[in-house]
Amino acid sequence: MPPRLSARRLFLLLLFLFSVSLLISIHQRFSWIHVHLQEDDATVDSPSMDPESNRLDIGAADSEEEMGEQPTAREHRGKPWFMSGGTEFPGNYKGPPRLFPDQADGDRILEQLMYVPEDYQGYDTPEKVILAYNGLGTWNQKSGSGTFHGCPVSRCSLTDDRSKATDADAILYKDHFIHPGVVRPMKQIWIIYFLECPYHTQSVKFADLINWTATYRRDSDLVAPYERWTYFDPQVRQKEQNKDFAENKTKKVAWFVSNCGARNGRLAYARELGKYIPVDIYGTCGPLKCPRSDRKCFDTLKKDYKFYLAFENSNCRDYVTEKLFVNGLGHNVLPIVMGARPEDYQKSAPEGSYIHVDEFDGPKELAAYLHRLDTDNALYNSYFKWKGTGEFINTYFWCRLCAMMHAPTSQRHYEDVNDWWRGPGVCTTKSWRHTDFV
Ligand SMILES: *[C@@H]1O[C@H](CO)[C@@H](O)[C@H](O)[C@H]1NC(C)=O
Ligand SMILES: *[C@@H]1O[C@H](CO)[C@@H](O)[C@H](O)[C@H]1NC(C)=O
Repeated sequence: MPPRLSARRLFLLLLFLFSVSLLISIHQRFSWIHVHLQEDDATVDSPSMDPESNRLDIGAADSEEEMGEQPTAREHRGKPWFMSGGTEFPGNYKGPPRLFPDQADGDRILEQLMYVPEDYQGYDTPEKVILAYNGLGTWNQKSGSGTFHGCPVSRCSLTDDRSKATDADAILYKDHFIHPGVVRPMKQIWIIYFLECPYHTQSVKFADLINWTATYRRDSDLVAPYERWTYFDPQVRQKEQNKDFAENKTKKVAWFVSNCGARNGRLAYARELGKYIPVDIYGTCGPLKCPRSDRKCFDTLKKDYKFYLAFENSNCRDYVTEKLFVNGLGHNVLPIVMGARPEDYQKSAPEGSYIHVDEFDGPKELAAYLHRLDTDNALYNSYFKWKGTGEFINTYFWCRLCAMMHAPTSQRHYEDVNDWWRGPGVCTTKSWRHTDFV
């Protein structure tokens, strides 16, 4: 027979258990807050601006090796796990989640990366099955749970077996939506992923069936940007550089371009600009040749040119691609951007790292400013002070998807996903300056 507990012993035992659970919950809360604050005390590391190491969060980027990587350096403790050298993993999250556009502002990427549902219990939590309806090849992933190894929330698995359409927890469509033709289980989530801008993506046939979106747009449920800049300390966005970025540069403006018929009139703009300042156009639309695969082109860009036209092929909200992040910011050249709205660049690019064409009335006015920058080295160099204040992070698309699959369910869907993706005000064929949307 077990010994009987006296009232006093029972009281002490309960008190002990209560204190332990209190300590645990305080710790978890603290580690969450800590991650939010840690950026304030992180030491500024050397910038990881080698474009070759910039990983996009799509396809191959989320390979198992990269995610399983466990940095050993103790001194980096406190940096969140998704930053280079970061080791801080989240504990179970308490409070209202900040995952979806109606729950919090901004792109919510950091929140999603640090989200572990309150009731999530690792291996005791059943796996969520995600069916990649257009196959796994285009995602560069294998079926099974390997993709999720190393994620804070890893209890998910991928399949491309369409016969699972009746019982998968989610169906993920890449660029094309195809009705699976079976009755959808109540809890199944249909997700559409778009990499390209609305002009280059298909209109969804059944516009009221999509539950979540995953695109570069900041108001997507899962934002999948081409690159995600993250400051080490959001208060520190400028840093003195002991380097002259104008040194030895003898040429003015370069542009690498292959598609001459873009809808935003970028070629006409570049040619007009060329009347006032030398613009070297490489590729099919200009006289100079430079194969995409040739590293020498980028070496030339870095060494000889002061400015680079990071012109997107479309002017659409939030549409900012590697043309800015890799071609421009990765090569010590000052990018001149056209594509997304000025306020979109402000949110996605490092502060003061580029010039938007809409800051000027037109090519002539822009050229005048470029001439000024060309003679004023201090002003030119001021556009490089962002370097070393942060890094382009891997945004671990799959980890975030898995975390959100395990989040408390609330029914949601788009009334008309086409209206959201390609409705009025999303793209313009003119400059944003001359576009008034009501
Ligand atoms: C998904 O969207 C459909 C509408 O197409 C809706 O009826 C359903 O409740 C949504 N499911 C979830 C889990 O949000
Ligand atoms: C500029 O040219 C000089 C002389 O050729 C060279 O020593 C120096 O390293 C160059 N600087 C840069 C930043 O390339």
